[in-house]
Amino acid sequence: MAETRQQNAKDDLENQIDAQVAHRLPDIGRLVSLPHTMYTLLSLLMDEKTQPKDLERVLEQDPALAAKVISLSNSAFYGLTTPVSTIERAILIIGFKELEFMAMGLGLSETFDLSQIPKGFNGEELWLHSLSVSWIARELAVITKVCEPSEAMITGLLHELGVIILVSKFPQQFQQLLELTDAGVPFLDAEKSLGLSHAIIGYLLARNWNLPEVFQQGILYHHSPRTCPGRKEMAALVNLSDNLAHKAGNPMRLEDPEIDLAYALEVINLSPANLQNFVKVLMTSLPQVQPMWIQMMRAGARKPGPETKGRFSSLLSGGAAAGFHGRSSGK
Ligand SMILES: [Fe+2]
Ligand SMILES: [Fe+2]
Repeated sequence: MAETRQQNAKDDLENQIDAQVAHRLPDIGRLVSLPHTMYTLLSLLMDEKTQPKDLERVLEQDPALAAKVISLSNSAFYGLTTPVSTIERAILIIGFKELEFMAMGLGLSETFDLSQIPKGFNGEELWLHSLSVSWIARELAVITKVCEPSEAMITGLLHELGVIILVSKFPQQFQQLLELTDAGVPFLDAEKSLGLSHAIIGYLLARNWNLPEVFQQGILYHHSPRTCPGRKEMAALVNLSDNLAHKAGNPMRLEDPEIDLAYALEVINLSPANLQNFVKVLMTSLPQVQPMWIQMMRAGARKPGPETKGRFSSLLSGGAAAGFHGRSSGK
């Protein structure tokens, strides 16, 4: 019975995808690949056995990214008296978790160049929003313990993957979307009418990249956690984080993340009083870390390096895609 229900939900989803996106952006999975370093970083972040040495090794294989991480570590934000010159030292001083976040943010902003985007849209605002949701989701996961903090961080970072892809790879289609929203059509309605649902596009990519189910579902249902057929915690957590990022002044201008607050709190097991405390801390801590993020985004915004498809494919067959076991297994 449960299996039939799940199969029906899957069939519905495939129909929805066909109706809403696939015919507008055929071959999307082939067009947009995830670079080798990002794949490896994701694998590391999801493996609870990962040691700082592993992160160091991965970054050393991408000298340009490593140089940026080191340069950011030396930014005024961390107030170091002795400059850091190696990843090993950066990890020691700044902390493994912070470096993971920094490497992911930098890697993603390198992968998707948002400097040439349609007029009327602000790429930096989109990154800032994604980083805020990522950060809030990680903190919420730490206090609620309903999801792995690293997974919440990644899902938060990728929750607007569909918008990032539209803006960076399909500017013409995105322009049509902007025209509709400028004419007063709500964003989610506009994308539906154009067959460009960002939640579905992000999901298609995440599925194509063989990211774990928990990310796929978190991305697909970040605006509709109630309809998530699997574990709803991640979708509800990202939905709430999205809403809080907007409240904290880091919106993705186009969307207005409606939220069923009572439902989200129930699913992630957070009391209204604890939410209030969390928001209080958030409102003071978020503005403190953001100048550093802006630096990070600007550092990341360079042209992507040589295509890494060959290495990427061998990594896929070698196990990263098949081997996203780590912290996600069983979810
Ligand atoms: Fe969204
Ligand atoms: Fe969002």
